[in-house]
Amino acid sequence: MTEIGLPSAPRRILLGVSGGIAAYKAAELVRRLRERGAEVQVVMTAGAKQFVTPLTFQALSGRAVRDDLWDEAAEDAMGHIELARWAELVLVAPASADLIARLAMGRADDLLTTLVLATAAPVWVAPAMNRFMWSNEATQANVATLAARGVKLLGPDAGEQACGEVGLGRMQEPEAIAAEIFASELNGALHGLHLVISAGPTREPLDPVRFISNRSSGKMGFAVAAAARDAGARVTLVSGPVSLATPAGVTRVDVETAEQMYRAVHAAVTDADLYIGAAAVADYTPARCATQKIKKSSECLELSLQRAPDILASVAALERRPFTVGFAAETTDVEKHAREKLARKRLDLIAANEVGADRAFDREDNALLVLWPGGRRELELKSKADLAREFIAIVAERYREARHPSVALAPVAGSG
Ligand code: CTP
Repeated sequence: MTEIGLPSAPRRILLGVSGGIAAYKAAELVRRLRERGAEVQVVMTAGAKQFVTPLTFQALSGRAVRDDLWDEAAEDAMGHIELARWAELVLVAPASADLIARLAMGRADDLLTTLVLATAAPVWVAPAMNRFMWSNEATQANVATLAARGVKLLGPDAGEQACGEVGLGRMQEPEAIAAEIFASELNGALHGLHLVISAGPTREPLDPVRFISNRSSGKMGFAVAAAARDAGARVTLVSGPVSLATPAGVTRVDVETAEQMYRAVHAAVTDADLYIGAAAVADYTPARCATQKIKKSSECLELSLQRAPDILASVAALERRPFTVGFAAETTDVEKHAREKLARKRLDLIAANEVGADRAFDREDNALLVLWPGGRRELELKSKADLAREFIAIVAERYREARHPSVALAPVAGSG
């Protein structure tokens, strides 16, 4: 069995916001971090509050903003040292020239600088300022000091600035910051590869107003799509009807029926390196769809259903097939049924989970049993975002092994 060492993604992020026009972008950053499963505690400097109100961050983060070293009530709830310990990662975005200077000096003259001094967590800084302030020798020396101490710098970007000038000093886009923080752990494992994934349920129409569907929410598939993107893949997500936002940077194709999903998947996999079938595709579809609403005329109504195309098996059967991964939703004998599906559909890997009214579907957490020919790995119950990242790390490892198998040494012939 191959063990994959995956450092866990930062779950508790302390986001320091300092005074600059880019503070408004930090609001978007909170959302980007939370959609990756992180808890975010915002700490604002006095300057930051001149640009955005604490209420904005409180609403987006779901936690009261901390802004004062001397706030007795807040200190009683969680003292600043506890807060510094709570953080698994400290991110300062935007970091103004003044804040960078204070960090470089090791000052502790407000809550944010005190926390940065007191934390043992890695510190990331996303500078944002006017281009002359950025290129000023004083700022450059401060930045070099921070970098030498192991502080990780994000950006700044070049472009048009709020002051009307053009040059280096814009804060990196929130999505780029979030992606870089979370990508560090997946380490470009799928860099340069095209991954196609299906997710969500399908809907098989009975008449113009009714359909047959299932309980799939699409959450697991969407989390896997986001994790694959963070691992550096170009991701095409073929989705059945779900109420989920498309992960940033992912190309989404919406479909309804199994037949439409079949066509969309086959159109997308022509140049794909990997295919993951995470959708709960209908196995049977009504033999015919009534053109008018079916009236309740008789006591008993019989529906005639016919087999829907098996998308996963058809992709695995392609002559030039991508590395093909399936999911298996089982109510009993999970491993036995999943192994059987792995072999029957000729898959490279399968992720099995136990399903039921109170399991897996439409929940925030899940557990998976990952199987491949000759190997298995159990991923215990955790948030779908975390689970998806561990799952993608395994997929990437198995993909590399399948494409570039480690060379087995030929036995040395005995000399007799
Ligand atoms: N799948 C598919 N097309 C179908 C049915 C299933 O591509 N028409 C894929 C799913 O996306 C999943 C895998 O097949 O990756 C297994 O789905 P599951 O419903 O567990 O298994 P089935 O093949 O439908 O077998 P059974 O219903 O007998 O358990």
